[in-house]
Amino acid sequence: SRYDLLVVGSANADLVVGVDRRPGPGETVLGSDLVVHPGGKGANQAVAAARLGARTALLARVGDDAHGRLLRASQQEAGVDTGGVLAGGAPTGVALITVDPSGDNSIVVSPGANARLTPEDIRAAAPLFASARVVSVQLEIPLDTVAETARALGPGARLVLNPSPPAPLPAEVLAACDPLVVNEHEARYILGGSAGGTPESWARGLTALGPRSVVITLGAEGALVADTRAGDPVRVPSPQVDAVDTTGAGDAFTAALAWRLGLGEELTEAAAFAVRVGAAAVTKQGAQASFPTAEEVSAL
Ligand code: RIB
Ligand code: NA
Repeated sequence: SRYDLLVVGSANADLVVGVDRRPGPGETVLGSDLVVHPGGKGANQAVAAARLGARTALLARVGDDAHGRLLRASQQEAGVDTGGVLAGGAPTGVALITVDPSGDNSIVVSPGANARLTPEDIRAAAPLFASARVVSVQLEIPLDTVAETARALGPGARLVLNPSPPAPLPAEVLAACDPLVVNEHEARYILGGSAGGTPESWARGLTALGPRSVVITLGAEGALVADTRAGDPVRVPSPQVDAVDTTGAGDAFTAALAWRLGLGEELTEAAAFAVRVGAAAVTKQGAQASFPTAEEVSAL
């Protein structure tokens, strides 16, 4: 196939301010100088994969504005095929991000043009789907567009879904995931409070909802993988690093995982590579700017 990975998803301008602590309701705090980075979970995944060496295409929608041009330029610089990056309909999506001294972030997203990526846009991109081994999607675009993405997969292609930010998923979409990639928060959301206490129990609960496989990211603890075609869930430890900014680390993890699965690796093997990519990404500021090359991953 022509592409190792097709990413269907969002592109946002990330407006980032460092804060000592976040304001409460009605409160004002002063932060650092504003930095504007290219971001969005879809755009981040595409850049992460391309930087690792994957032949990558992005299907997304930006506004006809300066933020849209920033996003397109960062994709092209990383080597992503941007033929599927549509323009117009609303301003480019924006993420308002605060980063605290521990490297944790809080994000408010204004979807803008991302909310105008339609099922029709997916159908019109049939040639992209026909030439992709793996398709990766997240939830910063409309749910009916995500559902159409699951229907558009080419023969033998694999769907990787990161349900972020979490929303109720149709059974049809859950059944198409291989894997469903969630963090603890997303796992609990999907299980609706019925989950027991351990990631292993969440993995069992999630696979029962239809996905052929599930990956639960556990931050500094690495990840847990569960494949319905294999045995019990398996823990994959992460290298220990000093966190500077975790923004986009989950996107880098998922992109690396999706790419390696498309190359034919087993889920455990692909996750072992992906945790290293995610760990590298937390050691630097920003999302896309922090994503490693294959050489940087080997050096870790
Ligand atoms: O996952 C990180 C991303 O979430 C940021 O780049 C921001 O745009 C939001 O979409
Ligand atoms: Na980062």
